[in-house]
Amino acid sequence: MKTYTAAVIGLSQISQGRLPKPRSLSATDPMPRSHVSAYAAHPRVKLVGACDLMPAALEKFNATWRDVHPDTRLYSDYREMLEAEKPDIVSVITPDDKHADIVVNAANRGVRGIWCEKPIATTLADADRMIEAVERNNTAMTVSHTRRWMPIFHKARELVRDKTYGELKILTATMYYSRAMMFRNGTHIFDMLCFLADARPEWLIGELEDGFDGFDRYRGDGGNEITSEPSANAYIKFANGVRANMMMLKSNNATNVLEMVFENAVARMAGDGQIVVNRVDGPPATSTRGAISVTQAIGHEDWLADRELGTLSELVQALDTGAKPALSPPRAARQTLAVLLAILESHKQGNAKVMIDAGPS
Ligand SMILES: NC(=O)c1ccc[n+]([C@@H]2O[C@H](COP(=O)([O-])OP(=O)(O)OC[C@H]3O[C@@H](n4cnc5c(N)ncnc54)[C@H](O)[C@@H]3O)[C@@H](O)[C@H]2O)c1
Repeated sequence: MKTYTAAVIGLSQISQGRLPKPRSLSATDPMPRSHVSAYAAHPRVKLVGACDLMPAALEKFNATWRDVHPDTRLYSDYREMLEAEKPDIVSVITPDDKHADIVVNAANRGVRGIWCEKPIATTLADADRMIEAVERNNTAMTVSHTRRWMPIFHKARELVRDKTYGELKILTATMYYSRAMMFRNGTHIFDMLCFLADARPEWLIGELEDGFDGFDRYRGDGGNEITSEPSANAYIKFANGVRANMMMLKSNNATNVLEMVFENAVARMAGDGQIVVNRVDGPPATSTRGAISVTQAIGHEDWLADRELGTLSELVQALDTGAKPALSPPRAARQTLAVLLAILESHKQGNAKVMIDAGPS
């Protein structure tokens, strides 16, 4: 089988973190939770280059990864690295407002596969020029909305598509968590609402956390400082009639809840990897309750193994076949960004109903 070369740009924790335990493609093993460890775990990809502007980040790579990636060359200029290494795959793990130029540059240089962190960008104009560049250059690109590689969400969408319990009507998500920041962490859940609704988001009514009335633009430098970014609530209408509610609240307690209301059942994603279903199509006394075990239901397809390794496996498969990665394509990530930006606009307009510029699918 063909092997591929890869390079990473930006060397923070999600890029080069390392768990103490070795991992495999098993769905039950700990997630690699970093790009560099996914490259270490994938038997057909060799990491040839790593780049960061900060010497300390490069030193950390040496301290953390030399035993596993002995030949990886280090760079402080990504253009120089792309020119010298000509990698097949590039990871873009810089702050959110710094994804666009790098993706466009890499696509124009002929990089075949791009693995870009989420959210895709901070403006729709940037997302559009990224999409234009990868489509014009026939580049395979995937965006790290990592829940798209988790079996539980595939099982949930299977319930939607198979109409096992009738049509999906309502999605309700609650993010009650210290880092309930709309762009940093919320993007994953807004993306899941789009994934599960399985239709274009049309319009929404949004609200930002108290004290963030002036937050009308996301600068992309969020992440480390929780107070730099608001949580957000939204009521979203999708083209197929599905309504979604997203409620976020920063809290030192932690719970994330996702519920799906179908015509004949309510399904709740439980923290233990199961979906608990309450049937509601009989009189209340006869309603039944059951749990779907997701590991059993989905099995161990390699690209569903876990988040980062799943993302890389799908990208490798795309390079093998010439197909485009289907699970988190840039146009889907643009839709999620459009939802986030529409919330800012709605709040600015006094919580008005605003149309979502979701672009073509
Ligand atoms: N998928 C996830 O669950 C997840 C988790 C954490 C972060 N992220 C995403 O990862 C990205 C990075 O976030 P972070 O908080 O780790 O960022 P960060 O600011 O902590 O680190 C980014 C690194 O990129 C480097 N960098 C910036 N511009 C560069 C350039 N032109 N060339 C080379 N290196 C450059 C910086 O020096 C820094 O070391 C963001 O898009 C963020 O949203 C995703």
